Amino acid sequence: MASSATALKTRRRGSGPTADTVAPPRNDQVDWNLFNPRIYHAHNYRTLRDDDRQLVTHVRDFFGSVRIAPTAKGLDIGPGANLYPSLSMLPFCGQVELVEYSAANIAWLRRQQLWLRRFDRSWDKFWSLYGEHPAYAPFVRANRPLDAFREKATVSPGSIFELKRARWDVGTMFFVACSLSADRGEFFRGVSRFLEALRPGAPFAAAFMTGSSGYEIKNQTFPAFPVNADIIKHALTRHAPGAEITPIKTDLRPEVGMVLATGFRRR
Ligand SMILES: C[S@@+](CC[C@H](N)C(=O)[O-])C[C@H]1O[C@@H](n2cnc3c(N)ncnc32)[C@H](O)[C@@H]1O
Repeated sequence: MASSATALKTRRRGSGPTADTVAPPRNDQVDWNLFNPRIYHAHNYRTLRDDDRQLVTHVRDFFGSVRIAPTAKGLDIGPGANLYPSLSMLPFCGQVELVEYSAANIAWLRRQQLWLRRFDRSWDKFWSLYGEHPAYAPFVRANRPLDAFREKATVSPGSIFELKRARWDVGTMFFVACSLSADRGEFFRGVSRFLEALRPGAPFAAAFMTGSSGYEIKNQTFPAFPVNADIIKHALTRHAPGAEITPIKTDLRPEVGMVLATGFRRR
């Protein structure tokens, strides 16, 4: 078990790069295979934090209020070691595809699908929170989260920059576009590629860290482009002009915040 000092450093949103480390500026210059999903999961998702509680509640209320066909295909781009965005779509979709760039994260995600892992209880609190909404309740009552994940989720290697266009009916993107690199252009392209991967009219939820210029997982620095609500709105304007922006209260660091965007891909 990592010490609490290490724990603070490993949060996806917990600490900036140290003075003597400079985040590589572009996505393909980062060795994403050094991303440690076990530690990332342990420090971010083993318990249900209050900021994640707010995110789950907003996403649940949004997806629970829109029509999604039972045959729908969902996309979660850049899942890392976070299953709750894909869990938000499982009750409504025939299939949910998790597209991830890091081989280490792909291996971790595939291990979650083995029967061996079915008694990992860390997702139960997230699942119960989804189950409080009437649109989710019957499915949540009838299925355990990892059973549903094993049944309906597929894990594919891939990059946000190479997603097929207009292929998915609903999508999530949590802390990915702002965390691809320190490059403004890659942030904007990441948001656009995600939205272009959705069919016209598809609902989506996307979470962003604001004000972050990077984070560490076990002494390994990963980059971020520091966005704010206006930059996020600007990035969404072309493909999702009506997106709703919800600030999320977080106590991580004074200079870092979170924003959730929900809406529909322009028709
Ligand atoms: C800050 S983590 C967010 C992980 C997770 N979605 C969450 O909510 O905690 C950024 C994720 O983006 C992934 N990633 C990095 N470059 C990517 C790319 N080009 N395409 C897709 N995913 C990428 C990383 O491997 C990592 O899983």
